[in-house]
Amino acid sequence: MIMDNFKVTPWEVSGTIDYDKLIRQFGATKITDQLKARMSKAAGNDPHHMLQRDFFFSHRDLDLALNDHEKGKGFFLYTGRGPSKGMHIGHLIPLMFTKWLQDAFKVNLYIEITDDEKFLFRREYDWKEVQKNAYDNILDIAAVGFDPDRTFIFKDSEYIKNVYPLLMRTARKITGSTVKAVFGFDDSTNIGLSFYPAYQVIPAFFEQKRCLIPCAIDQDPYWKIQRDVAEGLGFVKAAAVHCKFLPPLQGITGKMSSSAGSETAILLTDDEKTVKNKINKYAFSGGQSTVEEHRRMGGNPDIDVSYQWLKILFEPDDSKLKKIHDDYKSGKMLTGELKAVLIEKINAFLKEHREARKKAEKDVDKFMYSGKLAKEMWERTYE
Ligand code: TYM
Repeated sequence: MIMDNFKVTPWEVSGTIDYDKLIRQFGATKITDQLKARMSKAAGNDPHHMLQRDFFFSHRDLDLALNDHEKGKGFFLYTGRGPSKGMHIGHLIPLMFTKWLQDAFKVNLYIEITDDEKFLFRREYDWKEVQKNAYDNILDIAAVGFDPDRTFIFKDSEYIKNVYPLLMRTARKITGSTVKAVFGFDDSTNIGLSFYPAYQVIPAFFEQKRCLIPCAIDQDPYWKIQRDVAEGLGFVKAAAVHCKFLPPLQGITGKMSSSAGSETAILLTDDEKTVKNKINKYAFSGGQSTVEEHRRMGGNPDIDVSYQWLKILFEPDDSKLKKIHDDYKSGKMLTGELKAVLIEKINAFLKEHREARKKAEKDVDKFMYSGKLAKEMWERTYE
């Protein structure tokens, strides 16, 4: 969808995003303080900092998902990943939030690995490479620590035989003009991509109750389609909870993206030295140009990428974050010192992730084939 001076689609994000405008355009709703409080309470009084700090900021029918939970009907979770060479830290955000939801509400979770979408969209990848990337990404996803008995990770090309009739039923309801309008496809778009949205919609039909989808806001156009066709197919309209984008190193507008070049993102495979170099060299600073000026005038945390990354992801402790904010703003803390804090946090985070990824190797089979939910899903077909 093209608006003003920014563009957000599931495949492209550019310009300076005005999130309030974007959600109005998409037809989503801002998360109010009241809904945040309700959500935290329902999750056992354990608020998540990404929700508290408005990084998860928008939703569709999150209130109805909570109603269903309170009435005992419950809901289930669904999220996904288009496998590419190397995940970046932004990709973990919806997954980490999903884990928090699964732990709090003890619900089933479906994770779609869209090897088909990636193959169709990224012409530089051949099929084999997409499969290799998919396995590699699944290890990173498994490392997030989902419940192996309540989680099913599936690759589109493998699970298709269990869902083909439902996929056809769904595809029959979605017209070419809908996908053109929703995704900006034109006559040069390959027909595989025009069909693909039907597959991203159907995991939200995996159970006869409401599905709640955590994702960044770029994926919302799919949920609009799901909600248009759900009831006609005998299912429930999906609920969604959207986050903003973790910004790239170069500035707080826009989206960290794996295709924009590795100097714009921190990849999960970056070693300690690479992290240090990237942050020191590229992280956009809200500081002043000399130490004297900085001491006198202070820095601007609102535009400082290091501070924003601490706020979004790496410093969940509110009082520690406030101290960093105040010290930086007053000039007591220098840019180099702020960056050093971030470098240490990222390296600790990645070390933990790498260890979890190693351990997760043994869980992959459970998530995909042998865990309780996975087994049930392989025995089930959808018509
Ligand atoms: P993909 O692989 O582009 O992205 C995976 C998830 O990460 C989110 N994301 C980000 N979140 C925060 N900051 C960023 N900089 C950032 N970049 C990406 C995406 O919104 C997404 O939630 N078509 C999908 C795969 C998919 C899916 C789903 C995603 C299939 N079913 C259901 C979410 C929910 C894709 O290619 O995502």
